[in-house]
Amino acid sequence: MTTKSIDRSVPIQSALVLHPDRGRREDLRAASARLTEAVGLAEALDLKVVETLVVPLRAPTPATLLGAGKVDEIATIALALELDVVVVDDALSPVQQRNLERAWKVKVIDRTGLILEIFARRARTREGKLQVELARLGYEASRLVRTWTHLERQRGGLGAMGGPGETQIETDRRLITEKVTRLKRELDEVRRTRTLARRARGRVPFPTIALVGYTNAGKSTLFNRLTDSEVVAKDMLFATLDPTLRRLKLPGGRPAILSDTVGFISSLPHELVEAFRATLDEVKEADIILHVRDIASDESEAEAADVRKVLDELKVGEEAGQRVIEVWNKIDLLPPETRELLANRTEREDSAAVALSAVSGEGIERLTTRLAGLVDEGPLLTIALEASDGEGLAWLYRHGRVMTRTVGEGTDVLVTAKLAAPALAKFEQLRPRAFLPAAAE
Ligand code: GTP
Repeated sequence: MTTKSIDRSVPIQSALVLHPDRGRREDLRAASARLTEAVGLAEALDLKVVETLVVPLRAPTPATLLGAGKVDEIATIALALELDVVVVDDALSPVQQRNLERAWKVKVIDRTGLILEIFARRARTREGKLQVELARLGYEASRLVRTWTHLERQRGGLGAMGGPGETQIETDRRLITEKVTRLKRELDEVRRTRTLARRARGRVPFPTIALVGYTNAGKSTLFNRLTDSEVVAKDMLFATLDPTLRRLKLPGGRPAILSDTVGFISSLPHELVEAFRATLDEVKEADIILHVRDIASDESEAEAADVRKVLDELKVGEEAGQRVIEVWNKIDLLPPETRELLANRTEREDSAAVALSAVSGEGIERLTTRLAGLVDEGPLLTIALEASDGEGLAWLYRHGRVMTRTVGEGTDVLVTAKLAAPALAKFEQLRPRAFLPAAAE
């Protein structure tokens, strides 16, 4: 297999993390921040990072990505530090990976391989595991194609040879294709079952709140604090791959459901985008989205911009009748004057942000009070829909709390439902003529 896995029989492996700096202008993040993130990813795989390097990369060398001088220099370091692994924070072709492994006499793992390994370790649900496996096969299949002749000569392949005239590479490719088809079928089945489960839950009249945010922003810590539960919160990237659901009690006793999602990372390799997005499904269904930000991070703005972009692409947020609140987390790490400034800026009831510390607990009450206000279900309304308007009815079930549904005069269906202010405003746009005089409580 071309994907490198870390050998778990060896407890600690020492690693060098190397970030090739391509000096891209469009890249908002400094090379040092990218290096820090790559170190975090390596540590999430239990590697002991003993050395880090940023290597300027003006013109990539096809055979080894890095220039010959750099390759030699790192070979010397690898020997001196007795390294086991070099992590290259960029995409390597299989040929480059092999050449570097030969030159450095250590395992070499590239960024995609690294993230795949983390996804594989963190995936908890059946769906998460299938998605990761699919992404991994895609990664391998693309490598088979690109390095056809090379692989044909050099690698052992996946196993059983096919019929007469089939070369090893053809067998490998056929086996991968078959496995992909099987996995996709299984994934469809799992998704279908999950949609049914979600629909059933949709009938439970609890508002749902989803946590999203950059990796290490503090989602799991906040999740635990809000629900007093024990989801793994470590200083480790990707502590959460699949959404986790918990019941949450807000001031006033109103229950809600809180879900945690996988963290965002900068420049996710494109092969992994789909696997990652699928983990955000819960967000689409949520009434309120809490965008958790590490407000003490130098990259806070760039990270928030990435998250907002993905949310926009998923068409979630205010447009869909959902409320988005930014949680400015880790204020305990800020100097007192900055902390006060942020607290003042977010104090107002209608502010779209709440400043807090999930670790110290400062500001948590502000958040729960805000949430309690938002999940206030609003007035009981009577709404007349055409019997054929299944879409309108489904919308009401998704965004409000439907109390009764009766067939009215003529072709109408009468629905009594509670809708919170943002959902109400949205529904008034969608079906302006549907409202009847308010029903009595
Ligand atoms: P992923 O699962 O990787 O997406 O991360 P996450 O967003 O769930 O972050 P997590 O809760 O695991 O927190 C990451 C690190 O930040 C941990 O070391 C936490 O202890 C720390 N942390 C979280 N919230 C705060 C905070 O308010 N203040 C400080 N000082 N540290 C915090």
